Amino acid sequence: QVIYLNGDYVTKEDAKVSVFDHGFLYGDGIFEGIRIYNGNIFKCKEHLNRLYDSAKSIMLNIPLSYGEMEQALVETIRRNELRDGYIRLVVSRGPGNLGLDPLRCPAAWVIIIAEQLAIYSEEAYRDGLVSVSVSQRRNIPDALNPKIKSLNYLNNILVKIQANLAGVGEAIMLNAQGYVAEGSSDNIFIIKRGVVYTPPCYVGALEGITRATIIELCAKLGYALKEEPFTLHDVYVADEVFFTGTAAEVIAVREVDGRTIGEGKAGPITTHLLAEFRKTVD
Ligand code: PDD
Repeated sequence: QVIYLNGDYVTKEDAKVSVFDHGFLYGDGIFEGIRIYNGNIFKCKEHLNRLYDSAKSIMLNIPLSYGEMEQALVETIRRNELRDGYIRLVVSRGPGNLGLDPLRCPAAWVIIIAEQLAIYSEEAYRDGLVSVSVSQRRNIPDALNPKIKSLNYLNNILVKIQANLAGVGEAIMLNAQGYVAEGSSDNIFIIKRGVVYTPPCYVGALEGITRATIIELCAKLGYALKEEPFTLHDVYVADEVFFTGTAAEVIAVREVDGRTIGEGKAGPITTHLLAEFRKTVD
């Protein structure tokens, strides 16, 4: 495995970050998770747009131009000889001193890790996941804006811990008002009487790129789609529920908090959307 580290391509053993790096000390940085399908970077422009927007919002200067970043991604994939896989692109504030002042960090660090990825089995896509809602609340725009894909993932890690304790793969996080926000690392959709719903991002969700792809697919396939807030009750009584994410793609949910969703397996619209999603990435 070859890792991109500030312009160099180094081995896994040599890919080291300083203990004074503010990404490590404070979660001060941003990242993207990107898929490679058939040797192509899926939605590269969209991921880089989100990365550079996140950087601007937190006043982090990425030392590479957009084109240079794209080139670095391509070269990292090439050196790892990957046709299908996953890229983790990290930009941290870089090494500074122990204080939290970013002025003490002269240069951001850019790291690109590319590797194989197998997150869920084909059975999981067909049968659906069991999920639970958790007590951890999503930070909303008056705290850290959920549009910023920051390295500060403690909130999400706490959701993942609750998912682990419940023995499920992904959990559902609400916002402080009790509206459904998203999973620990996935957006959420529900379907009721043929209409597809997903929470608007202001409720407390990342502007997911897979989410946007599904919204486009719904328009193309003629499924009505509404971005509106909904509650756990709406999830329990939905005909279908699914999560979307770069790693998870489109994964059905068959049970939430002990309530069986629809027929207790991936429903017809979810199955159709997954099939069409896979066609678009090929
Ligand atoms: N997840 N919500 C959160 C909190 C996320 O971390 C992610 C990405 C998503 C889905 O966004 P997208 O479709 O752009 O991946 C939603 C990880 C990093 C991943 O799936 O790779």
